[in-house]
Amino acid sequence: MFFRAIGPQLGHPTQGLAGWFTSKILAWRNRVLEESAVALCDISPGDTVLELGHGPGLGLEAAARLLTTPSGCLLGVDYSEYMHQVAGERLSALVASGKVKLHHCDVAAMPIADSIVDKVFHCNCYYFWPDLKRGAAEIHRVMKVGGLMVTTLRLESLVQIAPQQVFTGESWRPEDYMKALQASGFSNVRMEDRTHKHITFQAIFATASE
Ligand SMILES: C[S@@+](CC[C@H](N)C(=O)[O-])C[C@H]1O[C@@H](n2cnc3c(N)ncnc32)[C@H](O)[C@@H]1O
Repeated sequence: MFFRAIGPQLGHPTQGLAGWFTSKILAWRNRVLEESAVALCDISPGDTVLELGHGPGLGLEAAARLLTTPSGCLLGVDYSEYMHQVAGERLSALVASGKVKLHHCDVAAMPIADSIVDKVFHCNCYYFWPDLKRGAAEIHRVMKVGGLMVTTLRLESLVQIAPQQVFTGESWRPEDYMKALQASGFSNVRMEDRTHKHITFQAIFATASE
């Protein structure tokens, strides 16, 4: 019942009470996934890093702290106008200085040049993409060869809420996403169990190959 009501907001939060509530839940519930994705990316101070579906911006905040040299730069993409605005406010000083650039757009068509990104991370995002192959191909396009992509998820929660039709078809299944990554030129695609702050979650790793 709860997820049926909030489901559309999870995939695309909008301005208003329901969107505000969703944004608070995301920030409370997913901090561990966001921080872990950033940690697992192995970010170097001068990297160009991209977060997909950043939501309220907790992961962006954690990643920005690691980009300590002038060449280090952070990009974010979310097609929710409301999340674009919330994250923009959270990171307003870094956006103003040019260290962080947020794009209000779809993952499937990002206004980002080819082969410029070293690390990509995302949490709780790919389940909502109507075409996993298209999303994976677009990620590959913007990444440098050898760049690392990490996505974190809580499989147990997904299995529980998927029957309530919160997601786009069956695209929440990690195997389907990993197949799409492999078909789009990623190698060493694997999923591992991890634990942080007593929470067990899964991390999918993929390396951008030629
Ligand atoms: C469930 S929320 C997760 C937010 C945050 N990553 C977290 O884990 O708390 C999914 C986010 O992905 C965004 N999103 C979903 N599909 C997207 C797409 N195709 N392109 C861009 N953003 C997308 C939504 O707008 C939303 O902000």
